[in-house]
Amino acid sequence: MINALRHPSPFAERFDLRLPLVQAPMAGATSPALVAAACNAGALGSLGAAALAPEQLAVDVAAIRAATSRPFAVNLFVLPPALPDDATVRRALDAIDPLRAELGLPPGHALDRYAPDFRAQLDMLVALRVPVASFTFDVLSAADVARLKAAGSYVIGTATHVAEGVAWRAAGADAIAAQGAEAGGHRGTFIGTFEDALIGTMALVPQLVDALEDVPVLAAGGIMDGRGIAAALALGAQAAQLGTAFLSCAENPIAQAWKERLARCADNETTVTRAISGRYARGIRNALVERLAATPDRIAPYPVQNALTQELRRVAGLAGKGDYLSLWAGQAAALGRTRRAGLSVADLVAALEAEWRAASLRIGSLAG
Ligand SMILES: Cc1cc2nc3c(=O)[nH]c(=O)nc-3n(C[C@H](O)[C@H](O)[C@H](O)COP(=O)(O)O)c2cc1C
Repeated sequence: MINALRHPSPFAERFDLRLPLVQAPMAGATSPALVAAACNAGALGSLGAAALAPEQLAVDVAAIRAATSRPFAVNLFVLPPALPDDATVRRALDAIDPLRAELGLPPGHALDRYAPDFRAQLDMLVALRVPVASFTFDVLSAADVARLKAAGSYVIGTATHVAEGVAWRAAGADAIAAQGAEAGGHRGTFIGTFEDALIGTMALVPQLVDALEDVPVLAAGGIMDGRGIAAALALGAQAAQLGTAFLSCAENPIAQAWKERLARCADNETTVTRAISGRYARGIRNALVERLAATPDRIAPYPVQNALTQELRRVAGLAGKGDYLSLWAGQAAALGRTRRAGLSVADLVAALEAEWRAASLRIGSLAG
């Protein structure tokens, strides 16, 4: 048993992980310091880099490399360029401007750019030769996956149902992040509707494991402690990918008001909404969600809505106003309450390791 736990899966062995744990990529909620801390503690740390311009991506990757010699991941959103017409922007601002006014901000306006150029980000990622490159929102072409692999990167694609996992395998992905409906943050769905792809982690992981045979599956969504990691491995996953669990950490750069709201969150307080960003994402219900969702025809598609609500959310964060923030969180956020407030990443990973080892031994002893 002890030997089996030393390297509980080929994925954990490949990256020499102390436990089968990926610190999930979270755009806006990770930093080089957080990622390096997760790596140094024995997990695979992941930088959520979707919002970073290529030059900043290079700066952040250099900062991670300076702080750890262990493997790490960098994650991007696979997105076409956003070219919204004026009417779409105007309609969205008509709903957003009253909220801006409440925070003392002038009316919003059309922007030169709504998201960094994905092709330029990808070119930079290839040039940086990162150990692991992970993606969500769509599948890469086989040619792009081949470029990353030629640069020495291990490629992870996100799937919310089996057909998406099969598409990523066909493109050449090395592993699949199985994102269950419980997961905090944006849904990765790219085939079919988001409603049809709300498959719980417990149902999704074994179906992907069976469909993908030798391609490693990482379980994401609703996992907050070592019991969940052990359960994910029992379902055939090679590691668990935890996001919400890392939001409350001392190193996490998110607004204090978000951390405080997380500490009070109950199991039925999250919702999947496109009101804030234009793409379905799970977060804690608040006034921002309810007011923007009240006029669904005014919500611009991602990334336009996301960019148009960004300044409002940034200012709200500085002012400590959680009602105007995007409070992305998974359905199991409340399980984080048992942890000491402001826990370091190293302490969280150590606690997860002890819990996972205890839960694995329990499962082993149940089986005799
Ligand atoms: C604040 C936040 C931001 C996220 N941003 C990203 C992202 O940039 N890229 C990505 O692939 N997944 C992102 N996710 C999803 C996570 O990778 C992962 O699927 C999810 O956190 C797992 O569920 P859990 O939050 O219940 O642990 C985000 C999740 C959260 C909570």
